Amino acid sequence: MNIIPNASLLSFNTFGIDVKADYFVEYDSATDLQAILQSEIVKSNRILHIGSGSNLLFLDDFKGVVLHSAIHSIKKIDENSDSVYLEVGSSVNWDDFVAYCVENGWGGVENLSLIPGEIGAAAVQNIGAYGVEVQDVIIEVNAVEIETAKIRNFSSIECHYGYRESIFKNQLKNKFIITSVVFKLDKKPVFKLNYQHFEEAVLKNGAIDLKNIRKTIIEIRESKLPDPKILGNAGSFFMNPVIPKQHFFDLQVKYPHIPHYFVSETEEKVPAAWLIDQCGWKGIQIGNAAVHDKQALVLVNKGGATGAEIVFLAEQIQKSVKEKFGIELHPEVNYIN
Ligand code: EPU
Repeated sequence: MNIIPNASLLSFNTFGIDVKADYFVEYDSATDLQAILQSEIVKSNRILHIGSGSNLLFLDDFKGVVLHSAIHSIKKIDENSDSVYLEVGSSVNWDDFVAYCVENGWGGVENLSLIPGEIGAAAVQNIGAYGVEVQDVIIEVNAVEIETAKIRNFSSIECHYGYRESIFKNQLKNKFIITSVVFKLDKKPVFKLNYQHFEEAVLKNGAIDLKNIRKTIIEIRESKLPDPKILGNAGSFFMNPVIPKQHFFDLQVKYPHIPHYFVSETEEKVPAAWLIDQCGWKGIQIGNAAVHDKQALVLVNKGGATGAEIVFLAEQIQKSVKEKFGIELHPEVNYIN
């Protein structure tokens, strides 16, 4: 157990907000985590568990203990002629894991290339892109209960996955810490290419295989999403709103080119990026916070922004989208104060 008092969180949030935590504690096994959870420092303080901080926004210094996993292992736990089962430590970088799978010829996560963050957070957030969500390949999530320090395994069904949703963001929010995730990957991959013009883009790079799919996704993401090492950001700031069908049809009369995704017979999903762009926000800066000039769904730190500046910009955007389209935007990023 490694305890650092008065620790800087600057390198632990991709927005690049310069805040501190009273204590920063790292562990490298589930057993080590169990001991930490029973220690005085954790029992007597508020705790926050973070991954690489790619989906959170600090509004202030964190009064309490920030916990971080250093469980880096990748273990093959089973295999048959069709599939391979891997248990992956919660602090493994998500994209390193994708690269490892692609190099080995195992399919299932290639469409999720270059998503920032670590394995544990990916399983909480149910990360998704280009027609794939991580829930499609998760078999089991291993976790430790914060209050009792007991180990519990969740099947994928028990995780209650939905669009950027899981039980760990709802009923069990702040109750469990994920230590590892078991994935099932395909030795005979079935490629998912039906997102917008994705198949054409892959074909431009050559044959349809895991390596070219990964290469194409990396090119697409790099062309519109800013590198957090250069420009602080947390990817999509808002979730894409799901609205009643009738509301969508009303909007379609006024805006015939409105992009949309089918959700169900009663609901339709509309891209938040399009709504924000239509309100004229792309590239707009207020203080040190701005809307990215290549993707309106991404808010960026132009240098030295505070959490409050980013939230102020987010609130102005929410207000104008509500006024123009009657739609509430909800942040995908977690606000921490
Ligand atoms: N659009 C605009 N203006 C913009 C950007 C996009 O009008 O500035 C329009 C595009 O023309 C397109 C639509 O909005 O018709 C959707 O844009 P895009 O395909 O770029 O995807 P998105 O809805 O903005 C979602 C995910 C991303 C994921 C991509 C690809 C959410 C909140 N975001 O973005 O996830 O990479 O699809 O699958 O669901 C993330 O969660 O951090 C993230 C980056």
